Amino acid sequence: MSNEQSLTNIYNTMVSNNEIQRNISQQTLVSELEKLTRKLEQKKALNVSVAGRVFSKFRFTKALEKNQGVYIHGGVGIGKSMLMDLFFKYLNLKEKKRIHFHEFMKGIHQLIKNAREKNERDPIKSVASDYIKNIHVLCLDEMQITDVADAMIVGRVFEEFFKKKLILVTTSNRHPRDLYKNGLNRKLFLPFIDIMVSNLNIEKLSAPLDYRKIKISGKKKYFLSTSPEDTFQFNELISDFNLRKGSGIKIQMNSREFVMGRFQSGVGLLTFNEICSIPMSSSDYLEIISHLRLLFLDDIPDLSNGGDDSAKRFINLIDSIYDQKVELLCRADVVPEKLYTFGKNKFEFERTVSRLFEMQSTNWPVKGKSS
Ligand SMILES: Nc1ncnc2c1ncn2[C@@H]1O[C@H](COP(=O)(O)OP(=O)(O)OP(=O)(O)O)[C@@H](O)[C@H]1O
Ligand SMILES: [Mg+2]
Repeated sequence: MSNEQSLTNIYNTMVSNNEIQRNISQQTLVSELEKLTRKLEQKKALNVSVAGRVFSKFRFTKALEKNQGVYIHGGVGIGKSMLMDLFFKYLNLKEKKRIHFHEFMKGIHQLIKNAREKNERDPIKSVASDYIKNIHVLCLDEMQITDVADAMIVGRVFEEFFKKKLILVTTSNRHPRDLYKNGLNRKLFLPFIDIMVSNLNIEKLSAPLDYRKIKISGKKKYFLSTSPEDTFQFNELISDFNLRKGSGIKIQMNSREFVMGRFQSGVGLLTFNEICSIPMSSSDYLEIISHLRLLFLDDIPDLSNGGDDSAKRFINLIDSIYDQKVELLCRADVVPEKLYTFGKNKFEFERTVSRLFEMQSTNWPVKGKSS
C-alpha cells in the first residue's frame, strides 16, 4: 500500500465522496489498522529482500511483539465489518483469509472430526496448525460463542494460532470478557479470554447510531413491483448499500453451498426465485439468514396459482427472518394479504402475512440481532 493509498486516505476519500459520515472512533480504528498494515508490509518487504528465507519463519516476532492483531467490538451497524474489510481489501499480502466466524468454526469442527477418524494424537493442535499453514493474516467476522462445542475448543485453537504468530483481526458485538456469558462449563472457556486479551489489541468502536437503520429509517419496507415509484425507491436503497457490486458470500449449508452474489457487510439481496424456488429446508434458511442483518427480497410473485411449494418455503424463510430479528425489505407483485389467497398452506400462511405486517413497523425489530 502506497502512502496515497493509506487506509486513512481511503477512509477520508469515502467521507468526501459522501459514501460514509466521518466518525472519530472509526478514524482511530482506521489508524490502528493502518499501523498493522504497515508492520505487515514492512515485514513482508524485509523477507523478500532476504534471499532464500521463508516468510513463515519470520512471522512478525519482533515487529509486533505481543500484539497479534486487533479485536474490534461494539454495537450493531457501526462499521466494524466495514473497517475490517477495508483493512483486508487493501492489505497487500497473498497469505490472507477473511471468513465469517460461524463458517470458520464449522470448518474447524469438520477438520477435527476427520483428524479423529484418522486417530490423530492431538487433533485440535494439528488442525489449528494446518489451518494456518498458508495464512499469515486471518480476518474473522462476528465472533460470538454460543455453542458449548465451540467454547470447549477455541482456547486450544487460538493458542496454537498465536504460538505460530498468526495475525488476527476480528469483529464482535461483545468484549472478549463478555463472550459466552452464562454458558455451560464457562470456567473451561476462561483461558480463551485470557489468550485473546493478552495477544490482541482490544478496540472498542462506537457510533451514535446504527448506520444501517439510518439508511432505511423513514423508508417503506414493502414495495410493489407494479408501482414505478416503489421500484425506484427500492432500487435506490439497494444502491445505498452498494449491493450491486457487493463482495458476495458463499454459505456452506448441510450438504451444499449457497452463493449470495449480492452481499456486503451483513446486507444481502436475493430474488424470490433464488431462495424459494429450489429445495430448501428450515435449517438451510436458518443458516443463510444467520449471515444477515438486513435482507432485500425482490420479485415476490403472486403465489395463489400453483405456488404451494414456494409458499411453504416462503413461510419457513419469513419465520427464520422473524426469529433472528433480521430487517426485511421486499418488493412484491401484490400486497401481503393477497400473496397467497388459496392453496394447501393457506392456514399457515396467515402467520406469515401477520409477520410481514409486523416487520414493516418502524420499531421492528425491537432489539437488534443478539449475540
Ligand atoms: N461512518 C459511516 N457512515 C455511514 N455509513 C456507515 C458508516 N460506517 C458504516 N456504515 C454503513 O453501515 C452499515 C453497517 O456497517 P457494518 O456492517 O460494518 O456494521 P457492524 O458494526 O459490522 O455491524 P454488526 O454488528 O451488525 O455486524 C454498512 O452498510 C456500512 O456501509
Ligand atoms: Mg459486522
